[in-house]
Amino acid sequence: SSPIIHIDPARSISRVDPRIYSGFTEHMGRCIYGGIYEPENPNSLADPNTGFRKDVLSVLKELNVPIFRYPGGNFVSSYRWQDGIGPKHLRPRRPELAWLTEESNQFGTDEFMQFCKAMSAEPYICLNMGTGTLEDALAWLEYCNSSANTYYANLRRQNGHPEPYKVKYWSLGNEVWGPWQVGQMESQDYAKKAFQWAKALKLLDPSIQLISCGETGYADWDRVTLKKLVTVVDYHSIHIYTVSEGNHAVNVIGPAAAEKALEITKSLIDLAKIESGIDKQVTICFDEWNVWDPVRAPGEKGAEEHYDLSDALAVASWLNVFVRKADIVKIACIAQSVNVISPIITSPKGLFKQTTFYPLKLFATLMQGTSLNVHVESPLYTGQTVPEWIGKLEKNSGGDEKLTKYIDVSAILSDSKDEVRVAIVNRNATEAYTIPIRFGPACDVLGEKVKVHEVWSADLKDNNGWDGESVQTVEKELPWSGEYSVKQHSFQCKSS
Ligand code: AHR
Repeated sequence: SSPIIHIDPARSISRVDPRIYSGFTEHMGRCIYGGIYEPENPNSLADPNTGFRKDVLSVLKELNVPIFRYPGGNFVSSYRWQDGIGPKHLRPRRPELAWLTEESNQFGTDEFMQFCKAMSAEPYICLNMGTGTLEDALAWLEYCNSSANTYYANLRRQNGHPEPYKVKYWSLGNEVWGPWQVGQMESQDYAKKAFQWAKALKLLDPSIQLISCGETGYADWDRVTLKKLVTVVDYHSIHIYTVSEGNHAVNVIGPAAAEKALEITKSLIDLAKIESGIDKQVTICFDEWNVWDPVRAPGEKGAEEHYDLSDALAVASWLNVFVRKADIVKIACIAQSVNVISPIITSPKGLFKQTTFYPLKLFATLMQGTSLNVHVESPLYTGQTVPEWIGKLEKNSGGDEKLTKYIDVSAILSDSKDEVRVAIVNRNATEAYTIPIRFGPACDVLGEKVKVHEVWSADLKDNNGWDGESVQTVEKELPWSGEYSVKQHSFQCKSS
């Protein structure tokens, strides 16, 4: 059947939270060292005062990143935050157990705060629930947020930072369920421990927002931990990476798993709230997401994925999911922000923007406002949907057609209420379509022209690199005729 898109601006879902376009900077591979921070850069690309790469910060600013999560990831589970403060020449080098490297501690809490300030972004700290104690966590919170005359607040002042950083977001451990995690726990044990940590952290600073460590959102871990923690946290975190296995359809249909995961997590939150008899807002912080094939780009080797057009379309589909689920997902952090599974790759000589940079920038700048309910009639993809965990979701979703539509769409009404913007991914590798877009009766914003921002290239394997960028955004203005033509394997964001 031919695709048709129906959009009714009267049927709004929720305001798109700008924090869904957040980032993540882990001490992993070349994200911090050689990415954000390179004081010895031979080509004078670093700021002489801060050591930050000026080119990296300038390109990251194009993405309007509202929050950066730090310092891991797996890294945090054996991280001693106290090693990363004070005079740099006194900071110890330590063995690092997540990626089996050495940590120089030249970049730590104060440098991260300085980075966030330079980016006009809010800091988000993930606590060490592996080797770290509650005492360490309380000390970190005191160091960052306290204005009292107490030891760690005074230590921050002594290190040259008189004002508290007011870090609002704190998460209770990272992937504590994973066998790769230092300090892996059973769900009940984690829930009991995190509950006690949450109480103490909120006693020290009641203004903070806490994030529980979830799994995929549809795992038993999520059910058990939410049941115990829903009364003390503000967000439940989930992590999903999609893999392509070299197959474009698998790559672009993959984010459907995240959509289903968000629906399941929302229900688990509702269930936990009903069982606890509480009425407070708990939403989802999707604090790690992206396209990542750990076989192609292993974590131990810095996970430097080299993305192609197919991956850019997968990222656009990921972002469509977050816009459609604006009612429940309030924070999402792409993993990660520089070099490591990232939209930006650096070398000592400069940087290039990966294919995935372009949809991310389009969403972060244009898909802000109120998410609208869209109904899409579309041909369906019917082939293989590995990996197995995506297949499992699809099999159990009662033939949920929205998971496999070739035409993948989200839409927003701008805050000024004078523009409808539509993000369309044509996931079909070979078919182009002309798609009627039917607006509901409440739509009085249609002009005579549409502005289109298109990400397309002739070959799905086209990518960007040191020799140039074959995949970029092309802008055009077209007369509005009531329908819109999408090329095969393309992404476009259009506003009217
Ligand atoms: O983002 C890379 C890694 O993926 C993170 O350190 C970890 O939390 C996840 O497994």
